Amino acid sequence: MAAAGSAIGLGNIWRFPYICGKYGGGAAIILYLAFVFLIGMTLLLSELVIGRRTGSTPMKAFEIMRPQRKGWRYVGLLGLITSFLILAIYLVISGWTLNYFWESVTGTLSSIADGDFANHFATFAASPLMPVVCLVVFMVLTLVIILGGVQNGIEKVSKILMPILLVLVLLLCVRSLTLPGASKGLYYLFHPDFSLLTWEGVLAILGQALFSLSVGMGVMIVYGSYIPKGDGLFKSAMWITVCDTAIAILAGVAIFPAVFAFDQSPDGGPGLVFNVLPVVFNSMGNVGSIVFGGAFFLLLAVAALTSAISLLEALTAWGADYGKSRKRSAIILSIVLALVAVVASFSFDGGILNDNKLAGMSFFDWLDKLTGSYLPPICALLTIIFFGWFMKKDDIHDELSNHGVLKISWFKVFYHILVRFVAPAALIVSLVAGIFT
Ligand code: TRP
Repeated sequence: MAAAGSAIGLGNIWRFPYICGKYGGGAAIILYLAFVFLIGMTLLLSELVIGRRTGSTPMKAFEIMRPQRKGWRYVGLLGLITSFLILAIYLVISGWTLNYFWESVTGTLSSIADGDFANHFATFAASPLMPVVCLVVFMVLTLVIILGGVQNGIEKVSKILMPILLVLVLLLCVRSLTLPGASKGLYYLFHPDFSLLTWEGVLAILGQALFSLSVGMGVMIVYGSYIPKGDGLFKSAMWITVCDTAIAILAGVAIFPAVFAFDQSPDGGPGLVFNVLPVVFNSMGNVGSIVFGGAFFLLLAVAALTSAISLLEALTAWGADYGKSRKRSAIILSIVLALVAVVASFSFDGGILNDNKLAGMSFFDWLDKLTGSYLPPICALLTIIFFGWFMKKDDIHDELSNHGVLKISWFKVFYHILVRFVAPAALIVSLVAGIFT
């Protein structure tokens, strides 16, 4: 449940729909499903095995499995750097959700006309003050929870809130599907338009599959180390993957019919959720917009918070490994993270730093690309090569079968085909094509 909580986050609701919108609807979904179940889940299972086998954090786990070749621990380090950058961009988006929560409950959003939400979002995200205030509040919340050591509390809270989020998303789907013209949205979401699916898109979709499952940065190694010895790892991995994918697709079903019913642009980029959903809430009347809108953005903020906590926790534990006290390590990291996030926020479309571009992309776009497309696949590739070619096969079999207790007839296919060939090949092809074409 905790790992599913980490996996389910802004990635499912904020990023997945806009990636589908950008790269050909059904074409993107088909590819996403293939990536998530063949490559994402293979990686998830590998990270869980490494974690439970070593009972350790990423950098140390690689050392324990391969003590004579210390270089492998840098894969763990790369994962930590990836986590840091993910958290930086996460802070910006999480801040937006806080703002939208606030504007929902105070009725600001319900006073905006349907056609004006895109403008409202653009003005808000580009302004120098509010987004920064929100992201700092969010960083402080995350830090306070880490310092208070109440992760367990938050874990329990999120177990209750995650199902509520699911119910709300389902309700939104119903509302969205009963809007006039909903079928157009469904058509757009599920009808495969392969002409929009570029190589860049393939890499973005692969990156999204990894990002969404929280793999390719070693975080699931940590979660693996918490899984009780008697549990079947395959079952856990399947459960996480199915839940995560279901929420992502439902988010798409909630959003696209509304996009078309209210004449919005389906490839609206990172602002999609914020432009479209308030329109749906407003169509539920004043009370509906305050109650549903408020609840939705609050839960989105909570989903983001639980993910942010686990990211900061991983980074803090690593800082503490290097002799800093947990407290100091958490505070220093938070300050640096907030600063990076502020720069990211300023560089978003229309912001004061948006004109400073590197290779045509702003700092925000770079962060989005690095954390969404590049770093997780690179880290995943190194991890899967380590797992498939450098770890002992017997160790892996032993861990997956719980020392021979579970029958794992799928092991041969998993290890000899998926781990050793399909996953590395798909990662290499997507990376090379995505970067160089
Ligand atoms: N999977 C999360 C999401 O979909 C994002 C994420 C990536 C994450 N890596 C993580 C969350 C590590 C927690 C820990 O939003």
